[in-house]
Amino acid sequence: SVGSLININCVTFPHPDVMPEQQLLKPSEWSYCDYFWADKKDSQGNNTVSGFEILLQKQLKGKQMQKEMAEFVRERIKIEEEYAKNLSKLSQNSLAAQEEGTLGEAWAQLKKSLADEAEVHLKFSSKLQSEVEKPLLNFRENFKKDMKKCDHHIADLRKHLASRYAAVEKARKALTERQKDLEMKTQQLEVKLSNKTEEEIKKARRKSTQAGDDLMRCVDLYNQAQSKWFEEMVTTTLELERLEVERVEMIRQHLCQYTQLRHETDMFNQSTVELVDQLLRKVDPAKDRELWVKEHKTGDIRPVDMEI
Ligand SMILES: *[C@@H]1O[C@H](CO)[C@@H](O)[C@H](O)[C@H]1NC(C)=O
Ligand SMILES: *[C@@H]1O[C@H](CO)[C@@H](O)[C@H](O)[C@H]1NC(C)=O
Ligand SMILES: *[C@@H]1O[C@H](CO)[C@@H](O)[C@H](O)[C@H]1NC(C)=O
Ligand SMILES: *[C@@H]1O[C@H](CO)[C@@H](O)[C@H](O)[C@H]1NC(C)=O
Repeated sequence: SVGSLININCVTFPHPDVMPEQQLLKPSEWSYCDYFWADKKDSQGNNTVSGFEILLQKQLKGKQMQKEMAEFVRERIKIEEEYAKNLSKLSQNSLAAQEEGTLGEAWAQLKKSLADEAEVHLKFSSKLQSEVEKPLLNFRENFKKDMKKCDHHIADLRKHLASRYAAVEKARKALTERQKDLEMKTQQLEVKLSNKTEEEIKKARRKSTQAGDDLMRCVDLYNQAQSKWFEEMVTTTLELERLEVERVEMIRQHLCQYTQLRHETDMFNQSTVELVDQLLRKVDPAKDRELWVKEHKTGDIRPVDMEI
């Protein structure tokens, strides 16, 4: 039956030529717990990386992406703040402040609308900060530490498995030697080449049996270690899977919040612009002329013809 198994990096697998029927633990879910049992060569092809390590790298990369998204939103906020500042500054500009009449009123309202618009952008930037940037930035503050703990936990179990495997190999060698020794002594007795007594052969047989028992115990301990590793791999990879689902959901939710806020600024207080439109509709050149003439007129007595 040893021939139907192979051992890779101290983990025992069924031999590929005699694959037994193995059901996936979570069929059709593409679950982490089903697809990361073997080790993998790294990009240089020298060191092997455990399947678990690959899952951890995905987690750390996800954490990094989350952080970079927060940075990106910060840049977005800065643009919005600067834009608001520019609008607000421009609204206080005194250009054409001396325009008069109904046109002057419409012009003043247009300038005021810039301040209102600035307000909308400022509100957007502040909501972006509290409802998108901060949550993205603060999600899972101790994540790297937690992942390191996970890493050590599984690595320790794997090391333990390796030491159990070494013990099995040692016991296997010891048994082989004991068996050879017994065989040799038996032969020597048969051909009477030596004075070995039955007693000594009994002793050799006992030692050989003991070595066999030793090996069985070592295999048993090895299997226990592999079971423990297996169980922890299943629970831990399922936990990593849950964390990744949670991360994706969290980010999706906050990006939706971004688009929601962005829509709100688009529907930017139409009333501020509408107020300008209203005043523009009321612009009346005749009325403005009347007002202006009343204020600046210099005399309405017309000149007449000269008389002799
Ligand atoms: C990887 O192995 C190649 C030879 O197989 C060797 O030249 C190279 O230095 C090794 N790289 C590392 C990082 O160990
Ligand atoms: C704001 O105005 C400055 C110049 O006063 C300009 O360099 C900058 O690009 C403007 N920013 C935005 C977002 O409009
Ligand atoms: C074998 O035993 C005999 C007598 O019992 C003794 O004379 C002889 O020296 C022994 N030979 C060896 C190699 O021990
Ligand atoms: C829109 O502008 C009007 C007048 O400027 C103001 O009363 C109102 O609160 C604003 N609404 C929003 C949603 O900003």
